[in-house]
Amino acid sequence: MAVEEGKDPAVTSRTSQSRTLPMRFIHFSMLCLFLGLGVSVFSLYTIRYFKYQNVAPVAQSKIMPCFHDTSNIESWIRPPSTLLHTMNDTELLWRASFVPRIKNYPFKRVPKIAFMFLTKGPLPMAPLWERFFKGHKGLYSIYIHSMPSYMADFPPSSVFYKRQIPSQIAEWGRMSMCDAERRLLANALLDISNEWFVLLSEACIPLTNFSIVYRYISRSRYSFMGSFDEPGPYGRGRYNGNMAPEVNITDWRKGSQWFEVSRQLAIKIVEDTTYYPKFREFCTPACYVDEHYFQTMLSIETPHLLANRSLTYVDWSRGGAHPATFGQADIKEDFFKKISESKPCLYNNQPTTVCVLFARKFAPNSLVPLLEIASKVLSF
Ligand SMILES: *[C@@H]1O[C@H](CO)[C@@H](O)[C@H](O)[C@H]1NC(C)=O
Ligand SMILES: *[C@@H]1O[C@H](CO)[C@@H](O)[C@H](O)[C@H]1NC(C)=O
Ligand SMILES: *[C@@H]1O[C@H](CO)[C@@H](O)[C@H](O)[C@H]1NC(C)=O
Ligand SMILES: *[C@@H]1O[C@H](CO)[C@@H](O)[C@H](O)[C@H]1NC(C)=O
Repeated sequence: MAVEEGKDPAVTSRTSQSRTLPMRFIHFSMLCLFLGLGVSVFSLYTIRYFKYQNVAPVAQSKIMPCFHDTSNIESWIRPPSTLLHTMNDTELLWRASFVPRIKNYPFKRVPKIAFMFLTKGPLPMAPLWERFFKGHKGLYSIYIHSMPSYMADFPPSSVFYKRQIPSQIAEWGRMSMCDAERRLLANALLDISNEWFVLLSEACIPLTNFSIVYRYISRSRYSFMGSFDEPGPYGRGRYNGNMAPEVNITDWRKGSQWFEVSRQLAIKIVEDTTYYPKFREFCTPACYVDEHYFQTMLSIETPHLLANRSLTYVDWSRGGAHPATFGQADIKEDFFKKISESKPCLYNNQPTTVCVLFARKFAPNSLVPLLEIASKVLSF
């Protein structure tokens, strides 16, 4: 079945009381449809026989209100019916920054994780992710940002079907990359049920099953944004004095691009107009802005909400400007054992050995061995 998140109203409203609401909405919509059809047939008839050219537009304006009804709470809870809106970035970020001031939701809200795929085009690991998501409908949403020229062709049965958002070209290490990430966050914020936001690439894989991922993220007091103060040329060396006083050298942070943030921090990122101009102007290569902007900004604004580490495993041990890529030959049980046995970290201030939930970078030829080994080493 197509997982168009929230299109099925039963997903977002689980109480028996609210289950009747979608039915009422359907009845109402049917009524509108029949009325609309009636009016159309009538107007066609009148046009044909009485040549009343202006009847059709009048009939149309009478049908419209049925589908733009904001008089009930359901219309404010329901996620957008299509991800292909026509807002530009300015409009989108503004809309996404809306926050309810009353903390308690007047309906049963099942918090979801938004999985945001920042890709060039195809998703070679899609079959693995499909298996990962299977059976967890209602607890996740998917968003894909790709090259604007790329036309996805996922079948209606896929969890990725029609999950592409309006995209623009994103260049590695440049502000257009952060723009793409903000665009993903903003689109995901439009669904009020999304509570946590994970950024992934086409080369990422999950290291464990959905239940564990959901529990780990939902019970964490902190957001997983890699963020540290590095003295050398690749850390503080990339700071530009013109960023002061908004950003001082002691505030400067570096960290992995691949983050997980709470709704609160996602809104901080989309609403920012203080730090954005500074980073856009003064952090250009060899200052790779996607390694500094959100990391530094959130360390200034909400340091107490950051775990200062990423949930995505990357192997930099081979050296160079890019991390290691794993292929077919690497996919062995020992490989995953090595990842899970890497050095301990803190989770809610307690030491743990479960430090990462995702990993990169995996080449397309690793898919088949991954699918074979998944039930054994990835527990799904
Ligand atoms: C979006 O449209 C508005 C209104 O036309 C305009 O003021 C704004 O500059 C546009 N933003 C972008 C990023 O194009
Ligand atoms: C940076 O330093 C200046 C001067 O000491 C101070 O006014 C400003 O608040 C500092 N900025 C931040 C983000 O702490
Ligand atoms: C993360 O780093 C900030 C300083 O940038 C610090 O205030 C905060 O306590 C750290 N978070 C954790 C969980 O240690
Ligand atoms: C998820 O993985 C854990 C740990 O490996 C396992 O105990 C649990 O049964 C798995 N859950 C599902 C739904 O497969």
